[in-house]
Amino acid sequence: MTCPQFPAGFLFGTATAAFQIEGGWNEDGKGPSTWDTFTHQRGKIRTGDTAEVACDTYHDLQTDIDLMADLGLNAYRFSIAWPRVLPSGKGSVNAKGLDYYDRLVDDLCAKNIAPFVTLFHWDMPQALQDDIGGFARRECADHFADYAEVVAKRLGDRVKNWITLNEPWEHACFGFLLGNHAPGQRNPWTYFRVAHHQLLGHGLALERIRSISPDVRVGVTLSVSPIFPKTARPRDRRAALIGDQFFNGFYLDAVFKGAYPDPLWSRARLLRPKVRPEDMRIISRPIDFLGLNYYSREFARYAWYVPFVQFWVDGKTTADHETVIDGMPYTSSGREVYPAGLFDCLLRIKRDYGNPIIYITENGAAFTDMVENDRVHDPLRVSYLARYLGEAARAIRDGVNLQGYFIWTLMDNFEWQEGFSKRFGLVYVDFATQRRIIKDSGYWVRDMIRSQG
Ligand code: FCB
Repeated sequence: MTCPQFPAGFLFGTATAAFQIEGGWNEDGKGPSTWDTFTHQRGKIRTGDTAEVACDTYHDLQTDIDLMADLGLNAYRFSIAWPRVLPSGKGSVNAKGLDYYDRLVDDLCAKNIAPFVTLFHWDMPQALQDDIGGFARRECADHFADYAEVVAKRLGDRVKNWITLNEPWEHACFGFLLGNHAPGQRNPWTYFRVAHHQLLGHGLALERIRSISPDVRVGVTLSVSPIFPKTARPRDRRAALIGDQFFNGFYLDAVFKGAYPDPLWSRARLLRPKVRPEDMRIISRPIDFLGLNYYSREFARYAWYVPFVQFWVDGKTTADHETVIDGMPYTSSGREVYPAGLFDCLLRIKRDYGNPIIYITENGAAFTDMVENDRVHDPLRVSYLARYLGEAARAIRDGVNLQGYFIWTLMDNFEWQEGFSKRFGLVYVDFATQRRIIKDSGYWVRDMIRSQG
């Protein structure tokens, strides 16, 4: 497998999220999150798993930091659990929660691994959900900015890169429209409110973090997927345009242009939240970098029965294992392996949004991994990473300002509604014993980093 080459100073990291790895769900003063509540409800998680222990990083940080150092990674994107720091989402601070992240940052710095902190990766304090419906209510954006301030005051001297939100589309869509993520609601009005208020929270938090540590960089992580029409029929093409605005344009345009895109925004007229005159200016305060999460593409088709937007997407298979359909490989989470889409998304952002600094803050794949004689041979993941990284390198040659790549994920972890059934890690985790085994893909990444000019 050939190794893609990247410019000097390029960051290679892995990404994780607090809820998916930490465990320690009710320890040392942490408040419950909506994901704790959701995973404790019967039937919400396919495997019946909970994340009470997960990868147990709350009790053992060092093992995983040593693994990162062994793999030669020079950056790490992790998230902070809002209810660990503020058990009720606002008001009194849990000192032990902040201490935990303080230690994590110190330990990373000691190994020369640059911390990239995500403030919200979906684990909303349950108390805020109960009081105000989470981001369904506007004031949640203010609470989020207050929380950002608490964390930035403590870590801002060492953390130079901040990500306000992770994938606001997924949080709003899965949590409040489709109901397969916490808090499990299904309401199109709430969807748009949650989307808008998260973006508002991003803008308010960005300003707050900068006011505390002027020398840090602040960005937001958005998921981007190319949306293709299912057929060449005009109504499917139109569906793809609306679908693209729903998935991508809504968030990108808001952040970079301070406006929600039409025709989606007009179609959503009856669903719109109240947008105050100053909101779009706050949301579009210049960011220092865009975090881009890319996995695959989707196919949109006209669907008369979907109110307002009239499209539906067929991107995934329902197969529970890796497979090949029409000559295209699919991962075990049903996503088509489509590296060219990464190049296309990067070029689109360069072209349409003023060539911002970009970090790929997530990319990776789940495959069925087996331990054989203490090794995990995962050639499909190696080939996946080589191809996606190759597209990233090609985009840089075409002038995209891409400065780093975070693989999802360091180690197998709790994959939301899929429980522990989807393994995305470079490191295999035996959840019964917490034993870690570096997969072949982990060694491949280590060698790829070593081979850089
Ligand atoms: C992304 C999430 C991340 C992980 C990957 C597989 O959408 O941000 O937490 O679950 O998908």
